[in-house]
Amino acid sequence: MQIVFIGPPGSGKGTQCEQLSLRYGLPHLSTGELLRRTKGKSPLGDLVASYIDRGCLAPDFLVLPLVMRLLDQDDFRAGCLFDGFPRTVFQAEFLSHHLQEMGQGVTAVVYLKVDEADLVDRLRKRAMLEGRADDHRQGILQRLEIYRQRTEPVLDFYRAAGLVEVIDGAKSPNDVHAQIVDCLASRGS
Ligand code: AP5
Ligand code: MG
Repeated sequence: MQIVFIGPPGSGKGTQCEQLSLRYGLPHLSTGELLRRTKGKSPLGDLVASYIDRGCLAPDFLVLPLVMRLLDQDDFRAGCLFDGFPRTVFQAEFLSHHLQEMGQGVTAVVYLKVDEADLVDRLRKRAMLEGRADDHRQGILQRLEIYRQRTEPVLDFYRAAGLVEVIDGAKSPNDVHAQIVDCLASRGS
């Protein structure tokens, strides 16, 4: 079961993938987390920080090898919850190609839909609690803009394949979890 999670910043991708990873016993692959972990550890990590702390996409030459390395591990072959990847149509095509080589494909795409005002509110609260480096005002606006320009077209890419499940992400985390489980079950996943 290869499930892709798409949603704007703050829509709950990480929150939901964490819970679903426990429920289904599938690994949670968050490219944002992978990139954040490289920060400050090498000159390449500093380069990563220069993109993500401003809310800009990290370049593919940094992101794609990280994803490929994981997908080639046995733990990920049985299935994976993709959080924040793919984020561009190019990345979506790359993922399809890579999964095809493994004799697999994307099973479903979970689109977490949340109004912009709610997103900004959630991220401002998180900024106060956790201080994530990209949760400053300009970083939030930049991530939202990049989401609209680069990631929304990914939804069209997957809609054409009939893979998208729209989830009301404004509900409580438990309610959102239940909606996703129902959708996946009705697809036979
Ligand atoms: P990434 O880490 O993916 O960040 P993001 O997309 O901006 O999303 P967030 O992690 O902020 O939000 P989320 O949807 O996970 O929501 P969460 O569960 O945390 O990416 C960071 C950066 O890395 C990117 O900007 C880019 O620079 C780079 N990057 C990553 N992937 C890349 C790629 N593929 N290519 C290139 N660059 C890439 O929830 C948010 C808050 O809301 C939390 O406080 C949570 O407790 C709360 N919350 C969650 N659900 C609910 C709910 N239902 N009701 C109320 N509150 C809720
Ligand atoms: Mg996240």
